[in-house]
Amino acid sequence: GAVPSSKRTQDRSLENHVYDDEAAAAFESGFTNTPDTDPDLPGNRVWGADILERAQESKLGYDLIAEHTLETEEQVEAAVETAVNAASSWAELSGAERARVLDRVGVKLANHRAELLEVMASECGKTIDQGDPEVSEAIDFAHYYGKLARELDEVSGAQYQPSKLIVVTPPWNFPVAIPCGGVLSALASGSSVIIKPAKQAARSGSVMVHAVWEALDEAGISRDVLQLVQLSERDLGTQLVSHPKVDRLILTGGYETAELFRSFRKDLPLLAETSGKNAIIVTESADLDLAAKDVAYSAFAHAGQKCSAASLVILVGSVATSQRFRNQLVDAVGSMQVGYPWESQTQMGPIISPAEGKLKRGLTQLAEGERWIFEPQPLDDSGKLWSPGVRVGVRPGSEYHLTEYFGPILGVMTADTLEEAVEYVNATDFGLTSGLHSLEVEELEYWLEHVDAGNLYINRGITGAIVERQAFGGWKKSAVGATTKAGGPNYLVGLGEWTDVPLES
Ligand code: ALA
Repeated sequence: GAVPSSKRTQDRSLENHVYDDEAAAAFESGFTNTPDTDPDLPGNRVWGADILERAQESKLGYDLIAEHTLETEEQVEAAVETAVNAASSWAELSGAERARVLDRVGVKLANHRAELLEVMASECGKTIDQGDPEVSEAIDFAHYYGKLARELDEVSGAQYQPSKLIVVTPPWNFPVAIPCGGVLSALASGSSVIIKPAKQAARSGSVMVHAVWEALDEAGISRDVLQLVQLSERDLGTQLVSHPKVDRLILTGGYETAELFRSFRKDLPLLAETSGKNAIIVTESADLDLAAKDVAYSAFAHAGQKCSAASLVILVGSVATSQRFRNQLVDAVGSMQVGYPWESQTQMGPIISPAEGKLKRGLTQLAEGERWIFEPQPLDDSGKLWSPGVRVGVRPGSEYHLTEYFGPILGVMTADTLEEAVEYVNATDFGLTSGLHSLEVEELEYWLEHVDAGNLYINRGITGAIVERQAFGGWKKSAVGATTKAGGPNYLVGLGEWTDVPLES
């Protein structure tokens, strides 16, 4: 079959990749002795149509899940003990030494790009054009957190004391980049890690962990510092996240999950990125063509299953009746090809599991005053493949306005003024990402000052934060306990403790 436009894939990938001179220099000095250029290595296969074919039947990662599933309390206890025992020799390395291992992880992830795309497509329905920049993001995390580890060595007057054990519980929607970011930040800080990938993305997480283990093996470091687990029962999960030897827990998931984890152990330092209800405001001064394109991409890429996705667009003043904006949005949404990742024309893939509950309501029910301009349609009997939905007439304070759905639905609101639009944005409990399309400096300044969200994007889509350039973290109920942002300069600081070094007399 045909491959998706390679140009598109490459462009996204480059856009999402931050080049870093220091990391590049580390490759030159550290790794040129063992270049992975053997064409028979799996990661060096030319990838394209073959990934799509393999993804449909992929079995990658199942063996790892089977091997690493804990079934008893004793096994959970043993995993904790093993990780804690491995922590001190890892922590004794300098930040620079750990950084060299992380740079090696970056190489391994790149070598396994094809498998990572395959398993994400197979397991999570992630299209290749979404999975590809995700692998790049994971690689960026490796180099960036390595760089931060080097910086820990350079602080004078204070000494960084890493945690002994950090537990990472990532979500299924970015099944490689988010677990990888959690694992690598914790390793960079000098802590041991136990990772429990989300059940729905257990294979993707396992393949990612395997790439990290390869780098540890080559550096002569015991795999004990990074334990991969699945748990056969919910109670074992409770045992793990409330274990007194866990120093920190990095969670990305729903707000309720964060609250639940907190209820297990009140004193647990938790760094949680949680839910969002994100909006893009479009004002009269905006480039409406660009705005429509960015809104459609932010709402429907990965079927809207990003915590950063646009769930609302708020049209200010005459934009509400602009034929131009409406036509562009209708074209963008109406031409979107929905299918499975291994069907080469697919632009929007399936949702993770059959729609039910809140999401099913969002896909099928309208409130008073609302109507569909695109009514979501189930496209097969899986319950997972839905055409994108756009509802207009969303009223302030309505269920749609305030609820996170995590699926392929966009709601359109209108406001007389920018001030009113910002009020609608801020009315939700969440504050993760937010966008403004405007070409007026005064509007921009007003919005910057008044909008309550952690990640602000001007005249671009609101997904796809770039490591180091756009540190990622939320406000309000979009974060629990997290005071530093992922992919940002202080992230490792929040993972350990500082102690003063007494001045020599
Ligand atoms: N980091 C992801 C994004 O920015 C969630 O879209």
